[in-house]
Amino acid sequence: MKRITVAIDGYSSSGKSTMARRLAGATGYRYIDSGAMYRAVTLFALDHGMISATGEVDAEALAAALPSIRIDFAPATEAGGQQHTLLNGTDVETEIRRLRVSNAVSPVAAIPAVRRALTEIQQAMGREGGIVMDGRDIGTTVFPHAELKIFVNASAETRARRRFKEMMETGAQVSYEDVLANVVRRDHIDETRAESPLRKADDALELDNSTMTLAEQDAWLMEQFEKRVQA
Ligand code: CDP
Repeated sequence: MKRITVAIDGYSSSGKSTMARRLAGATGYRYIDSGAMYRAVTLFALDHGMISATGEVDAEALAAALPSIRIDFAPATEAGGQQHTLLNGTDVETEIRRLRVSNAVSPVAAIPAVRRALTEIQQAMGREGGIVMDGRDIGTTVFPHAELKIFVNASAETRARRRFKEMMETGAQVSYEDVLANVVRRDHIDETRAESPLRKADDALELDNSTMTLAEQDAWLMEQFEKRVQA
């Protein structure tokens, strides 16, 4: 059977990672969270003093360091669990989800050298098809020829509520207001950056999942997937 490429893009905390992970699980495809890669590069920059207290990124120093940054994904340790992001061999899965990284990631992701380096790695991962990748520019830049493209959206409040709940479950000390502010700020930076801004690809299907249950979302996605595989 044809092994297609699935690109899932959308706004922050729109649930695209959950969607992508569940589709990959159901189809046996590889799942790649491209946002985790931008987050890992951001963590590296933070830990190497390349981001000032006011949030300024030393783009030149970071571009020079890119060849020394290796990002891998380790399989989930429990059934149905989440894969873990490794930065130069160290498991950074928990750290990259903290607000410290969320607040610094969008300026880092706007740096052209960072985008070029990660896009190249992502394209190499998808060369054989059989992949579900989620992010901001997967359907527009990384895999413009993907057979199935989805653009996910939901209101900023719905998305911030989901992310806040997720973070509370991991024991993070955050307020809903801070999470909402981060979501709105990231949306703005991601949409207005010069290189590969967040936007819906012309041939992407739009999904607003504000009022959808996980089961409804899974069923809708599987139907779209089956159509493309049989095409
Ligand atoms: O928090 P959320 O799951 O919504 O975001 P993420 O997918 O982990 O991505 C974190 C940040 O990385 C985004 O806000 C973007 O600034 C950047 N990103 C990007 O520029 N391009 C991608 N393909 C994926 C993420």
